[in-house]
Amino acid sequence: MKDYFGYKNKVCVVTGVSSGMGKSTAKMLVDLGAKVYGLDINECELDGLEDFIDCNLSHKKDIDKAFKIIPKSIDCFFGVAGLSGAKTDYKTTFNCNYTANMYITLKYLKRRMTAGGAIVYCTSTAGQEWKKYKKEQNKVVHANTWEEVQTLTKKLAESAPATFAYMYSKRCLSQFACEQAVNFAKKGIRINNVMPGSTDTGMKQEFQDMVGSEEGLIAQAGLAGRLAIPEEIAYPMVFLNSNMASFISGIDLAVDYTDTCLKELGLKKNLEAVSATNPIICAMAKKMLNKSAKKMKALNAGKEETEEKN
Ligand SMILES: NC(=O)c1ccc[n+]([C@@H]2O[C@H](COP(=O)([O-])OP(=O)(O)OC[C@H]3O[C@@H](n4cnc5c(N)ncnc54)[C@H](O)[C@@H]3O)[C@@H](O)[C@H]2O)c1
Repeated sequence: MKDYFGYKNKVCVVTGVSSGMGKSTAKMLVDLGAKVYGLDINECELDGLEDFIDCNLSHKKDIDKAFKIIPKSIDCFFGVAGLSGAKTDYKTTFNCNYTANMYITLKYLKRRMTAGGAIVYCTSTAGQEWKKYKKEQNKVVHANTWEEVQTLTKKLAESAPATFAYMYSKRCLSQFACEQAVNFAKKGIRINNVMPGSTDTGMKQEFQDMVGSEEGLIAQAGLAGRLAIPEEIAYPMVFLNSNMASFISGIDLAVDYTDTCLKELGLKKNLEAVSATNPIICAMAKKMLNKSAKKMKALNAGKEETEEKN
């Protein structure tokens, strides 16, 4: 048998390794013979990792500690960890989804990745409109340090809802991937971006609460009639960082069973085509989200009361 993927003994770093897509990716890489270093804030139950590193990616210090443990020479990086913003504040969400990937790439991967290596980031179809909103992202994407990003996003973090950090961070990361693919090409390193549609992972309930029902979520999964399973997002990520994709760099790969296609053909309304930083839109969204959160809270309290009576 020929090893077309070429992962045997390669040092692979995977973030978000404790659940969902990151866990599936790491499992597949272990099966393919890679030396996998997994990072996550939550405990990891996966067998076969070379090492699991407890790391809060929203904190620069934690990332620095992790990269002291990871081997000097890295072949592949999978930036999968993410937060929806439903349970975390703007800053935590943005830093985990965008700043951590930017910082790891510029501070560590730039120096420590081998020629022939590859990077894949997991963004989202929620970040798909990044080309249209480049003006909103340019300053953040062109910042080179963790601190600069904090300064540039400070106002937004105070005024916009945390769920807006999701869309904005995914747009920034998609643009970053495209720009860095050009820079890293000179080093013989490829960079690609996978944009998953709705997937049945640890994040499912949070997204479901945002759209109101499971049907609403399934409606965001193109014509599949179901959500993707984590493996269905891990397959393309593992492919893109493998030898099988040796001439692919700088692409956005939507993994959404025609959802993007439907929007492009005008067969589905594109709800993602909205500013992520406009102060009026952010304030309106914050008001609306607070109102619906209060409504949900009252509804749940009512439900609990009825259950207690029964
Ligand atoms: N599930 C979906 O529908 C969907 C759709 C599009 C994109 N995504 C993206 O897919 C990626 C993977 O998420 P998932 O769907 O597998 O969800 P998940 O919740 O199952 O997995 C996310 C992982 O990230 C880890 N994580 C969260 N915050 C962290 C932090 N600060 N430091 C370190 N680790 C942290 C979690 O512990 C978890 O193991 C995310 O980037 C997410 O935004 C998910």
